Amino acid sequence: MKVLISQPISSAGVDMLKSNFDIQISDKRMDRDKILEYIRDAEALVCSANDNIDSEIISAGKNLKVISNVAVGYNNIDIGFAKQCKISVTNTPNTLEQSVVEFVFAHMLALSRRLFESDKYVRDGKFKEWSLGMLLGKELKGKTLGIVGFGSIGKKLVPIAKAFGINVIYTNTSGEVSEFSNDMNVNFVDFENILAKSDFLVLLVPLTTETKHMITSSELGKMKSTSILLNMARGPVVKEQDLVDALNKKIISGACLDVYEFEPKVSDELKSMDNVVLTPHTGSATVEARDRMAKCAAQNVIDVLSLGECKNIVNK
Ligand code: GLV
Repeated sequence: MKVLISQPISSAGVDMLKSNFDIQISDKRMDRDKILEYIRDAEALVCSANDNIDSEIISAGKNLKVISNVAVGYNNIDIGFAKQCKISVTNTPNTLEQSVVEFVFAHMLALSRRLFESDKYVRDGKFKEWSLGMLLGKELKGKTLGIVGFGSIGKKLVPIAKAFGINVIYTNTSGEVSEFSNDMNVNFVDFENILAKSDFLVLLVPLTTETKHMITSSELGKMKSTSILLNMARGPVVKEQDLVDALNKKIISGACLDVYEFEPKVSDELKSMDNVVLTPHTGSATVEARDRMAKCAAQNVIDVLSLGECKNIVNK
């Protein structure tokens, strides 16, 4: 059986696939035309968040049984159409949470302690004299972290937040999470309250028709003027121009962004702001997470093709 791997993944995953199947891989990401060409006789496609796997590509895969996304999110795949074609779509849960959680705190600390501004200050040769009032930041202790989307990443933020002395509030479409119902420092609130009460508001929801533009001028207007918005989910969850306007008007104090509405395009206005930390969708970009993701994606292919079932199917 043939497996098409649309872009380089960790060798651990490639080796697992190689020892079971005939694989087609290239040393750089395949463009759409290449995917369309090679998918014709592939039983499986291994792809990731920046591959747009739409109905045209899916229809071209006449023998396709499984699309294995090397990511937790799967908004890049037309999962409904794949289901109609009896093709399983799988993702890689429980592989990248630790990396993303550490990254959220890296962003919070970087912005609160003005790390990039300070680094630039030194590199630009501006550090001529020290003073008590220079580059003052803010502590994390005592602040409130609001988590929108309390899934496996959100829950893993809790112990680290506690270690910093941060209070946690969360909101979730499925309501209060019983595991935390007796925890005084972790409270379920509604969306209006999370906007009003958070010092740091972190978005961790999947991109769906309901979450697209969940944050616009109206929501930003309900946040504290001292608050910081973190988008670690998917770009279109935030209406980017509204965020730029809110930052310009000082409606909120800063933003930490790993994803962008028109990714990989990033607003020039955002790039010019000191109170914004920008990263190129690298929340899960660690050697450890990439390894786990590739192995999980490979196992998903093996499970579907050899057993006809897999625990990570998202379009059952
Ligand atoms: C990364 O963004 C993922 O969804 O895995």
